[in-house]
Amino acid sequence: MQIGIVGAGKIGATLARKLSATGHKVLIANSRGPETTEETAAAAGAVAAAAGEVVRRSQVVIVSIPFNAIPRLKNHFTEIDDSVVVIDTSNYFPFRDGNPEGLADSETESHWVSTQLGHPVVKAWNSILAGSLTTKGLPKGAVARIALPVSGDDVTSRETAMELVEATGFDAIDAGSLDESWRQEPGNPAYCTDLSAKDVELALQRANRTTATKKRDLLAERVFAARDRYTDEDILSLGRRIYNLAPDDDELCG
Ligand SMILES: NC(=O)c1ccc[n+]([C@@H]2O[C@H](COP(=O)([O-])OP(=O)(O)OC[C@H]3O[C@@H](n4cnc5c(N)ncnc54)[C@H](OP(=O)(O)O)[C@@H]3O)[C@@H](O)[C@H]2O)c1
Repeated sequence: MQIGIVGAGKIGATLARKLSATGHKVLIANSRGPETTEETAAAAGAVAAAAGEVVRRSQVVIVSIPFNAIPRLKNHFTEIDDSVVVIDTSNYFPFRDGNPEGLADSETESHWVSTQLGHPVVKAWNSILAGSLTTKGLPKGAVARIALPVSGDDVTSRETAMELVEATGFDAIDAGSLDESWRQEPGNPAYCTDLSAKDVELALQRANRTTATKKRDLLAERVFAARDRYTDEDILSLGRRIYNLAPDDDELCG
């Protein structure tokens, strides 16, 4: 498959490497132009291109840039075919992303992304930390395999995204339509807690819109306050405590 990745950072570059390794042709872009991402692309087995070219030439486009930068991509998506599958890896944190116009009126973060791009999106890979994405992928059937939710309205697009999530070393869980995608947003227990398939399904059921904002902000506040002293494992363990997934710990947030 011809896959385009817009965003060559921690998530985008890792997806490029994993998807290239499973035989896909990958184009990748950053915000500054192909000459500045050639090294990253080559190390990942991908090809550097400008963002517009990446979008134009791909059957699947993975958007993996900061949430508040997404409106800048709008022009690239105006003429792409309806059949192109667009996958959104983003997460919204107010302290980092501010208050983007229209977000407050959107049903979910990914609905807002879809509106900005003018194209339907599938939400995937948003619920795993870059460190886990990089090092914890396992072959299908492995007992300790981590699972990731995938949500989106078009069944074929969702299945394509699930196939790609599996190719990167994780069980893909069908999390339903985009209306349900809030269940995998920050502040809910399926978000960055490295759960098994069975536990992700339970976590999606346990998602709670009323408490999610408070839990998301508590997580962000603690991680931000710790600056670089927090490893991914610290963040993982803090998230598990906030979502009350670690039964031996005190619940941090009701
Ligand atoms: N890091 C994580 O653990 C994690 C986990 C799950 C989901 N996510 C989400 O995934 C997305 C990417 O996260 P990340 O950690 O990979 O970010 P990152 O390391 O900061 O990388 C961001 C990338 O986006 C590119 N970019 C920014 N604006 C762009 C534009 N207008 N056009 C093209 N490229 C643009 C940047 O290019 P330049 O360097 O040229 O500006 C950079 O390559 C975010 O939405 C984040 O919330 C992150």
